[in-house]
Amino acid sequence: MIFVLIGAPGAGKGTQADLLVESLGCYKISTGDALRRQISLGTKVGKEAEAFISEGKLVPDDVLLGILKEELASHSEEVVLLDGYPRNLSQANTLEELESVYPVNGAIHIHVDESELLGRLGGRCVCSNCGETYHMQHKAPSVEGVCDKCGGKVITRTDDQEDKIRVRLEVYENQTAPVLNYYQDRKLYYKIDGTKGPKDVFNEIKGIVEDLKGSR
Ligand code: AP5
Ligand code: MG
Repeated sequence: MIFVLIGAPGAGKGTQADLLVESLGCYKISTGDALRRQISLGTKVGKEAEAFISEGKLVPDDVLLGILKEELASHSEEVVLLDGYPRNLSQANTLEELESVYPVNGAIHIHVDESELLGRLGGRCVCSNCGETYHMQHKAPSVEGVCDKCGGKVITRTDDQEDKIRVRLEVYENQTAPVLNYYQDRKLYYKIDGTKGPKDVFNEIKGIVEDLKGSR
C-alpha cells in the first residue's frame, strides 16, 4: 500500500513521515533525502540534481523515476510512504502506471498557510547524516550543531535561504498543487490541517492510514 504525503515546502511531510515510520513500522521514501544523499556521495545523479535543488527547482522526472523504482524494489514493508513524490502531473501519471504492483491507497495533503511556512523553513536545520529535522526555536538539538539521534552534524539546507524558499513555494503552486486535484478526481484525497502541533497532525494521519489499511 502506498500513501502519498503532499504539502508545500515546510508543511511537515518529513516530520510526519518519520513519526509514521516509528509508530507503524512502514517504509519512507523521501525523494528530497535520496537526492541529497546522492549529492553528498558525489554520484552522477547527485551532480545532475545539485543545481536544480540549490535553485529550488524540480529535478528532471527521469532522475526521480530511477530513484523511485530502485527504492520501491528494495523494500517489502506493507505500507510505503512517499514524501515528495509525485510533485507534478507527469510524476502522478507515472505512479499510476506502476499501480498494478504498487497501488496508491491515499494522498494525504498537509495544508499550511504561506506565512507559517516561511517561519518554519527560516528556522529549520537538519542532520547531514540521518536527515532528522530540527527547528532553532521549537525543536533545537540538545547540543548546538549535533544531532540528538546519531551525533551527525546539524546544518541548514542550501535551499532554505529566503530567495530559494520563494522559488520552491512558486514551484509548489504551479507544478505540485495540480496534483491535489488529480487525487481529488481519483477519490484518494485527504486534507489535514498542518498548522496543529506535530502530534495532533500525526494522530490524524495515523487514523487515515489505519482506516484505509483496515478497509482493504
Ligand atoms: P524536499 O526535501 O522534499 O523539500 P520540500 O518539499 O521543499 O519540503 P521540505 O523538506 O522543505 O519540508 P517538509 O514538508 O518535509 O517539512 P519538515 O517536516 O522538514 O525536496 C527538496 C528538493 O529536492 C526539491 O526542491 C527538488 O529540487 C528536489 N525534489 C525532491 N523530490 C522531487 C521530485 N519528486 N521531483 C523533482 N524534484 C524533486 O518541517 C519543516 C519545519 O517545520 C521543521 O523545522 C519542523 O521541525 C517544523 N514543523 C514540522 N511540523 C510542524 C508542526 N506541525 N508545527 C510546527 N512546526 C513544525
Ligand atoms: Mg522534507
